[in-house]
Amino acid sequence: MKLLITGGAGFIGSNFIRYLLKNYPDEVLINFDKLTYAGNLENLKEFEEDARYSFIKGDVCDANAFIEAAQGVDAIVHFAAESHVDRSIHSGHEFIHTNVFGAQVVIDAVKELKIPKMILVSTDEVYGDVDAPKKSKDGDPFKPSSPYSASKAAAESLAIAAIRTHEAPIMITRCTNNYGPYQFPEKLVPLFITNLIEGKKVPLYDGGTQIRDWLYVSDHCSAIDLVLRKGTLGEAYDIAAENDPEVTNREITETVLALLGKGNDMIEPVSGLRPGHDQRYAVDSSKIRSLGWEPTVTLKEGLVSTVTWYQDNEDWWKRVKSGDYQHYYQQHYQTS
Ligand code: NAD
Ligand code: TYD
Repeated sequence: MKLLITGGAGFIGSNFIRYLLKNYPDEVLINFDKLTYAGNLENLKEFEEDARYSFIKGDVCDANAFIEAAQGVDAIVHFAAESHVDRSIHSGHEFIHTNVFGAQVVIDAVKELKIPKMILVSTDEVYGDVDAPKKSKDGDPFKPSSPYSASKAAAESLAIAAIRTHEAPIMITRCTNNYGPYQFPEKLVPLFITNLIEGKKVPLYDGGTQIRDWLYVSDHCSAIDLVLRKGTLGEAYDIAAENDPEVTNREITETVLALLGKGNDMIEPVSGLRPGHDQRYAVDSSKIRSLGWEPTVTLKEGLVSTVTWYQDNEDWWKRVKSGDYQHYYQQHYQTS
């Protein structure tokens, strides 16, 4: 299969490319990525000489460039997006441009080039928060709380419209919060780990009572892979660890602190940074589990290996935090 992955230089996209290249020796992959602040080709440097992998620097909002890149592919997995809630609350423009307009460009290319399959990688955040013990499920109304989640809900609406109007061969996945290697240190888990290694405090928002259903990134990759091969066109699949008991941000923070031998005095309580802060996300993942998927990494195992990865890869995240990683493309791909 020849696959086009958008946003493959980001956190989940790069883990997905690594996952496919390791598990499918004959797969051919094109990584189409604009290299925003969140795109880092160092995530994939071990594949630079691999004939199965190629990189195209491009913007999903540029329809001509995208159509050219997508010629002859068997499927598109569309990860490319602005992904950070706090940034979207600060300024939503780029989120609407990339996440909504960009999604339509990808959908149009699927129609025009008659590409057999596309996955739109969406998020559980489209449902908004949900009171315990209820879980959101496919078909529930969307109730997004930030420009990020609203833009993802809009992209889903465009996909659903194309499925209905043009029988576009699209599937949607909605996963809960991911964590693991190569995550940009602006999200909770990598920000807190790297801050603590640097001896800095961790900013825990709004008392830390919020609940997220954390899933280790390789389990998200295996779920998308399964949808790609066994999913039904036109369907949407909610993906979740369904951690039981559920875990608050405070509990995740205390686990990370303990793994790094730090005390709770390193917590800096912060409020007001995330207006509209969703209290609890929880989704019912029975549909994807009925295809044969289940998570393989427990939260404790995943946090141990994530902390270890950031301890072992200080060079990677220090270059990210300093901005040095942004020179990598010029140095290794020899463009002007
Ligand atoms: P990320 O921010 O780490 O990476 C995004 C990637 O997209 C970067 O490589 C960036 O350069 C690229 N990109 C951004 N704008 C682009 C554009 N206009 N054209 C081409 N490339 C562009 O994000 P992530 O955490 O890896 O998330 C990937 C996808 O998964 C997103 O669609 C996100 O909504 C979804 N998702 C994320 C999570 C999570 O916990 N991180 C959970 C569920 C779903
Ligand atoms: P985040 O990692 O930004 O992911 P998302 O907003 O997509 O869920 O945030 C996860 C949770 O952690 C969310 O409830 C907000 C909280 N949070 C903090 O308490 N402090 C932080 O510095 C960040 C980035 C997030």
